[in-house]
Amino acid sequence: MKSIIPAAGLGTRFLPATKCSPKELLPVLNKPVIQYVVEEAMEPEGVDGVVIVNSHEKPQIEQYFAEDAEFESMLRSRGKDDLANAVHEAGALPVSFVYQDDPKGLGHAVYCAKDQMDGDPFFVLLGDYFVPDRKMCVNMASVSKAHNNASVIAVAPVPADQVSRYGIIAGECVEALEGTNAQGEEEGAVWKVTGLVEKPAPEDAPSHLFIVGRYLLSPRIMDLLATQGTGAGGEIQLTDAMERLLEEEEMYALVVDPDQGCDTGTPAAWAATNARMALADPSQVEAFKEALGKDVKVG
Ligand code: G1P
Repeated sequence: MKSIIPAAGLGTRFLPATKCSPKELLPVLNKPVIQYVVEEAMEPEGVDGVVIVNSHEKPQIEQYFAEDAEFESMLRSRGKDDLANAVHEAGALPVSFVYQDDPKGLGHAVYCAKDQMDGDPFFVLLGDYFVPDRKMCVNMASVSKAHNNASVIAVAPVPADQVSRYGIIAGECVEALEGTNAQGEEEGAVWKVTGLVEKPAPEDAPSHLFIVGRYLLSPRIMDLLATQGTGAGGEIQLTDAMERLLEEEEMYALVVDPDQGCDTGTPAAWAATNARMALADPSQVEAFKEALGKDVKVG
């Protein structure tokens, strides 16, 4: 079983930094953002590889995940074994590449990896968000198992005025935690999905549960993507193919706390993620606070 990470975007929100360096390689502390996502993507049981959907404009991503024995041994010869190990780790991850040179949308990006899926279910992890404890996809896999291996997506509540930025689900809560809010929007609740709409106007949104960017999908979605027309923004939307999948198969949504994950999609979010990871890392926290200086207060 594989996980797909779409990574062919232009990274315009980070220009000019992304003029000649892909946004996926922006560091969070000492690792590029995409390495956190790859490590998260490998976590669920049964996943044995990650397919990155790249564009030929960004060969640096492939270079980053390639082995570099010469560089490693140079580091070792200088007594820098820790660094050599870190370099080795990145090159040893089971990552392969397919290409999407025409940015036709998320649905099209996922479809580009069809031949690598061997007809199996697969995960999709959107790459400008990562979950440090790597548990979100693992929990989704448990929900799938409990529901006959159905497709499962992660969702979370979003304020009504922001629904048009996301994919929004319609559905009914089938498992809520006792004693929590009756609407089933607390973390851990499970919904049976009855509809999906990409970037609806607030008045058309069937709920305010948005798709967080973690999917466990039935292989049937690939057949549907093959014939999927364009939708919101003139793009081939994964959400639209999932809406068609509902006519044939069940789908569930697991309510998650999006703050379990770190957003790296904008310069401000990326900077905050670096701060959050530094504060959570015992080897960095003191140096980080000192570097901030005494006039900047952190929690
Ligand atoms: C994509 C998906 C959308 C989802 C969002 C999460 O949209 O199409 O359904 O809610 O990611 O970040 P994008 O952010 O690519 O416009």
